Amino acid sequence: MKALQARIRKVHKADINRVVDIERSWHHLSHWSIDSYYRLISEDSFTSSFVAEIESGDSSVLIVGFVIFHVAADVSEIYNIAVESSYARLGIGKQLMTAAMDESRRREAAKVVLEVRKSNASAMNFYVKFGFKIVGERKNYYSNPIEDAFVMERETD
Ligand SMILES: CC(C)(COP(=O)(O)OP(=O)(O)OC[C@H]1O[C@@H](n2cnc3c(N)ncnc32)[C@H](O)[C@@H]1OP(=O)(O)O)[C@@H](O)C(=O)NCCC(=O)NCCS
Repeated sequence: MKALQARIRKVHKADINRVVDIERSWHHLSHWSIDSYYRLISEDSFTSSFVAEIESGDSSVLIVGFVIFHVAADVSEIYNIAVESSYARLGIGKQLMTAAMDESRRREAAKVVLEVRKSNASAMNFYVKFGFKIVGERKNYYSNPIEDAFVMERETD
């Protein structure tokens, strides 16, 4: 399918409800609390967050995806990335991840790391496509339901 061109910009506090809706469009995945999003997105000095927005039919602007990550020393950690389920496989995730990689590089991170549920095959495929490799695992890392995580990483350059 043809890729959909999005505009990637920094998140604003006013975007938080939309970010939560996007995450919740994936019914089978477990969800973060609204407070967690509020905390991460408000603490701009601690995390970086981008949203992807598109022109929707009536020429208004619609946020269709987001990425939240954290750069400390030379490591960038992706906390979460999601695209509204009805806009999946249109290249939006790729544009968000590219922006996160660019910003991580700009802030002199040498590598990007993330955790992913072992059962989340589509996200793992997405990360592998981006050059991430499994470098370890964390037992019972997730709750609701409890599940192990794979740790994945790749260098920024
Ligand atoms: C993971 C996610 C962000 C990908 O976003 P997306 O916009 O659908 O991804 P893209 O269209 O940019 O896909 C880029 C490539 O990733 C791979 N990919 C993405 N979704 C895939 C899927 N469901 N199955 C297999 N490969 C997939 C493909 O190689 C794809 O390239 P292609 O379409 O040319 O084959 C999206 O599926 C999502 O929001 N998932 C739910 C939330 C989630 O699991 N987040 C990760 C938490 S660790």
